[in-house]
Amino acid sequence: MKIITKPVGMRTALLKERMAGHTIGFVPTLGYLHEGHESLIAKARKENDIVVVSAFVNPKQFRTKAYQVYPRDLARDKAICERLKVNYVFAPENKDMHPDGYDTEVSVKELTGRLEGSKIRWHYKAVATVVAKLFNIVGPDRAYFGKKDPHQLAIIKRMTADLNFPVKIVPVTTKRAKDGVALSSRNALLTKEERKAAVVIPNAIKEIARLIKKGGVTRTRLVRNLESLLVKEPIAKVDFIAVVDADTLREEDFKGKTLIYVAVYIGDKRLTDNVVV
Ligand code: PAF
Repeated sequence: MKIITKPVGMRTALLKERMAGHTIGFVPTLGYLHEGHESLIAKARKENDIVVVSAFVNPKQFRTKAYQVYPRDLARDKAICERLKVNYVFAPENKDMHPDGYDTEVSVKELTGRLEGSKIRWHYKAVATVVAKLFNIVGPDRAYFGKKDPHQLAIIKRMTADLNFPVKIVPVTTKRAKDGVALSSRNALLTKEERKAAVVIPNAIKEIARLIKKGGVTRTRLVRNLESLLVKEPIAKVDFIAVVDADTLREEDFKGKTLIYVAVYIGDKRLTDNVVV
């Protein structure tokens, strides 16, 4: 396994792989890998000759404090990648990803504003931009993204199609802890009490999914029920909830495949979760 820090070094190494006829599977991450990432990597390992994992905490997709406290442990990430037979870890420095005078942004316009995007347009713009940059550097055949962030997934699919990246986007099912809490690097920041409280999130979603399957409940009622289930946990503060069409992410289209999406503060940590019914 090779660790590469410079974009040009990454491009050169992968050019050689491509010339040798090898297919490239890419797992972009913010580092601090957990089991969720492991399932993306394992899928990439099965489906490609070469697997590349990037570990880059993109400052542009965080507010300053969140960026500073984001957990980082490259040595641990390397060990995990080695165990999962990753071929290359791309761990660039910010100065190489955003050199002096950096002034470009990729914006997936309308889709970005859906769900809670209107509040955090800057975040999804930063994600679309960094993923486009990483696609340019890595040039993968397939790229793996968790279903944990359905808005990010929809934006990346749109951006990939719109900018003609010859990359197949492969969505991967969310990994959960035994109690149902979706795995996330952010869970590492929770206190014991907060981690226990976080179980309210998957439980509430499960109950709403059950109601949808049963049928006959209006969208407004479902949203209201979801909120009242979440606030039963005293340290949970609902930041955003949505019950929308799973493809268009629009409330108006609510009928067939439905996305239940929640963003909840547990203490001061914002956790998100979702399920498609
Ligand atoms: O989902 C993530 O981990 C990040 O948003 C991504 C796709 C690696 C871009 O920084």
